[in-house]
Amino acid sequence: MAGMATAVVVCAAAASPGKLRGPGARNVRLETAIPADREFKNLKVLPKDISSKMLQQIMIDEFEDGLGVGCGFCHAPFKGSDKLDYVSDAKSEKSIARSMMRMTLLVNKKYFQARHPQIGTPALVVTCTTCHHGQPRPSSE
Ligand code: HEC
Ligand code: HEC
Repeated sequence: MAGMATAVVVCAAAASPGKLRGPGARNVRLETAIPADREFKNLKVLPKDISSKMLQQIMIDEFEDGLGVGCGFCHAPFKGSDKLDYVSDAKSEKSIARSMMRMTLLVNKKYFQARHPQIGTPALVVTCTTCHHGQPRPSSE
């Protein structure tokens, strides 16, 4: 199971750099495997019991592709290392992403009558991509 989840991310990451655009594309990393050997430790918006597969789908399809950035745009590296510490909240982009997630859920619930909106599900009418269209800052287009 752990090995399988890792393989899925590596494939998706290998396939995505060509699609990445914008300033964040510089931060693209190929070793984007989500550690599948442990529980997710610092989820404040997503459900704590989310599956690795669903989390990967959100990080890659919604966040990376939606904003045209790599994992390192939101996730800081471990001190003195190239590896990303996905649990860390050191980068402000990660906190901004969390408030964007809350805003997106609220818009869907309040204005589009989505009953149980969850990031990364078809229940969402408005997604990150609706505004971002592959850009980290839609306001400066
Ligand atoms: C636009 C910002 C953004 C991008 C890009 C992004 N992430 Fe995340 N990631 C987040 C946020 C925000 C959370 C925390 C969500 C929450 O609090 O519910 C998170 C959480 C995670 C976690 C869970 C860590 C834990 O244990 O709490 C992993 C693993 C992760 N991301 C991996 C990735 C990978 C791999 C990529 C690239 C394929 C990626 N992320 C790209 C914003 C981002
Ligand atoms: C209603 C439109 C809208 C939606 C939906 C939206 N965003 Fe944003 N987002 C913006 C705008 C506009 C900005 C730029 C704000 C600025 O320039 O100061 C922004 C900025 C950001 C930034 C900061 C980028 C930077 O360069 O500092 C992040 C990270 C981000 N959004 C993540 C997300 C994520 C993740 C989602 C989906 C969960 C999302 N956004 C959904 C409109 C939106």
